This record gives sequence, C-alpha cells and structure tokens, in this order.
Amino acid sequence: MMDHSGVETTKVFTFEEKENTLSVSIPEVLDPQYGMYVWPCAVVLAQYLWSRREELRDKTVLELGAGVSLPGVVAASCGAKLILSDDANRPPCLLNCRRSCEANGLSDVRVVGLTWGEVSPDLVLLPKLDFILGSDVFYEPDDFEDVLVTVAFLLRKNPTAQFWTTYQERSADWSIDSLLRRWKLNCVDVRLESFNADEHQLAGSTLPGRHSIQMMIITLKTYSA
Ligand SMILES: C[S@@+](CC[C@H](N)C(=O)[O-])C[C@H]1O[C@@H](n2cnc3c(N)ncnc32)[C@H](O)[C@@H]1O
Repeated sequence: MMDHSGVETTKVFTFEEKENTLSVSIPEVLDPQYGMYVWPCAVVLAQYLWSRREELRDKTVLELGAGVSLPGVVAASCGAKLILSDDANRPPCLLNCRRSCEANGLSDVRVVGLTWGEVSPDLVLLPKLDFILGSDVFYEPDDFEDVLVTVAFLLRKNPTAQFWTTYQERSADWSIDSLLRRWKLNCVDVRLESFNADEHQLAGSTLPGRHSIQMMIITLKTYSA
C-alpha cells in the first residue's frame, strides 16, 4: 500500500457564470502517484459539468479513475447522485475519493473499487446510470482497451447513458479509434470553446495551462451524442 502520510494541501476551484457561482475544495497529497492530486484534464471536465449543470440534477453519475474526484464533486454539488470509483487495488485513491467528499460536505456519495477491464460484483451491481465520467483515464496506452471494456459494459447495461471524458494529448501516435470500432462505440469530440474551456486558466486554476486537452462523448453505436 502507498504511504499516505505525505504533505497535504487543499486546492479551491471556483466556477462562475453570470450570477451563479460554485466553489469546491479538493484535498491533495504531494505524492507522485497518479490519483493523489488534480490533473489538468479534471478542471476541463469539471468546467463541462458546470456548463451542463441543469441536466445533472437527480441524475446518477459514476466517475471512473476518480482520484481526488474534482469532476464528481462538481457533479454532486450540482445535484447529481454520485458514485466515485478508482482502482480496487489502490486503497489510497479510494481514500482520496472519500476525503474530497468530506471536504465538500457530501455525505451520501458511494465509493467503490472498480478496476478497468474487470467485471467484478461491484461493477455488475451498480444502479442505473445516466452519466459516466473519466478525467485523464486515457494516459497509458496499455490500459486504453481496459477502460473501454468497462465503459462498453456500462453502456450496454445503460444504453442511453453517455461517457464524458477528457484526455491530454501526450503523443500523436496514440489513438482509440480501432478500439471504439471493436467495442461498437460512437465518439463525438466536444470543442473546448463551446463550454468556455479554451483558456489557460479555468475555475481560478492555472492547471490547464498550455496542455493540449480534448473532450469526448462516447456512447453506444446505436445512439448519437
Ligand atoms: C492520471 S490520474 C487521473 C485522476 C483524476 N481522474 C484526475 O483527472 O485528477 C489516473 C487515475 O486512474 C486510476 N487508475 C489507474 N489505473 C486504473 C485501473 N486499472 N483501474 C481503475 N482506475 C485506475 C488512478 O488510480 C488515478 O486515480
């Protein structure tokens, strides 16, 4: 198990539009492991959720590979029924999911261990889902198919659900196109400017910076996003 005694800090993100404001606090651990702090993709996905906040109320939302869970926390703060998940084999990441909920007074969020590519009882027993979130879950090409296997399983069980995901372009060679075809999934790119995310600074955070971040909506092939 990872050492979880690292230095802790809290980042505050403030989403604004006209007279509407939402501030969320995300505790982080200064640790090089992946699920311990907010990634730039998370700020962009959270901004997308904020832009569609009216549609989130009372919807059931699952976040995959949530880590410190900024998008999920924003969804729950906008009225969604939230389930957070991270790798079942990384207890510190699951602890981070819980800490982020506590920091924002979200007491009725379920946290489950879901390892991409594994059909576990926790995956099978999930309730009906409306939206699935994934921020920076396409960062290791060896895992791309496992992520999509989990997403395809969930979309087959919830045929009208959508997978909202952001990724960072780290290599021009990486592509999920053939995997999308194999798993009969449809993918639509969402332009960042369409939800005011084409900025170096978002929600009061400089994290997006000059990173090349993209947003996609993945659905079952028979449904268009
Ligand atoms: C790059 S971090 C992104 C964390 C968070 N979504 C964000 O954007 O701030 C990748 C996340 O995926 C999780 N992860 C890695 N491999 C996984 C697997 N096989 N199954 C489930 N989660 C996994 C990590 O624990 C980590 O939280």
